[in-house]
Amino acid sequence: MTEGIQNKAAVVTGASTGIGEATVRALRTEGWTVYAVARRADRLESLAAETGAVALPADVTDDADVARLVDEVTRAGGIDTLINVAGGARGADKVAEAKTEDWEWMFEVNVLGTMKLTRAFLPMLRACGEGTVLNLTSTAGLSAYEGGGGYNAAKFAQHALTGALRLEEAEHNLRVIEVAPAWSRRRSSR
Ligand SMILES: NC(=O)c1ccc[n+]([C@@H]2O[C@H](COP(=O)([O-])OP(=O)(O)OC[C@H]3O[C@@H](n4cnc5c(N)ncnc54)[C@H](OP(=O)(O)O)[C@@H]3O)[C@@H](O)[C@H]2O)c1
Repeated sequence: MTEGIQNKAAVVTGASTGIGEATVRALRTEGWTVYAVARRADRLESLAAETGAVALPADVTDDADVARLVDEVTRAGGIDTLINVAGGARGADKVAEAKTEDWEWMFEVNVLGTMKLTRAFLPMLRACGEGTVLNLTSTAGLSAYEGGGGYNAAKFAQHALTGALRLEEAEHNLRVIEVAPAWSRRRSSR
C-alpha cells in the first residue's frame, strides 16, 4: 500500500466496466475505500465481491438516484475523492445525419451526469479540506474529428465544466483533475 493514502475514499462512476472498473481495481489495490457506481448492479456486485469495493448501483443522470447515493455514502463515512468516469460515445454520424437521441444520451451522461454528481458531492468534498474531483474526458474534448460531432460536443462541454470547476473551487482547496485519454483498449476479462 502506498504510504499516506490509507484513509482515502472515493466514489468511482462508470465502475461496471472499462476504465471505471479498472480504476476501482487500482484504488482497492492501493487500499482506498471505494464506492463503485453504475447502473448494472450484477456487475458491481461481482466487482465488489472480488475487490472489496462497495457496490452502489445508480444512474448518474437521475436526480433521485444521485440524492440516494449521497445519503448512502454519507452514512458509510463519506469520501474525499470523486471520480467521474461514466460516459461514452454513441453513434458516429456526421452532423448532417445526427441522431437527436444519440446526442441527448451523450450530453445526459457525459455532461449532466458529471455535473449532477459533482454538485451533489461538493459539500462533502469541500468539508474534508482537501478534496479531489477527477473527470474522465477525452482527446475528443480537445479536438474535433469527422463523425465525432456529438461526442466532441459533449466532451468539449465536460472539459469546459472541469475548467470552470477548477477556478471556482480553488478557494475551497479542491483539486480538480482532468484526464483526457485517447482510445484505450479494454483489458477486463469480464
Ligand atoms: N475507452 C476509450 O478509448 C476512451 C477514451 C477516452 C475517453 N473515454 C471516456 O472514458 C470513460 C469510460 O470509458 P469506457 O470506454 O471505459 O466506457 P464503457 O466501458 O462503455 O463504460 C461506461 C461506464 O459508464 C457507465 N454508465 C453509462 N451510463 C451511465 C449512467 N447513466 N449512470 C451510471 N453509469 C453509467 C456504464 O455502466 P452501466 O451501463 O452499468 O450503467 C459503464 O460502467 C467515458 O467517459 C469515455 O467517454 C474512453
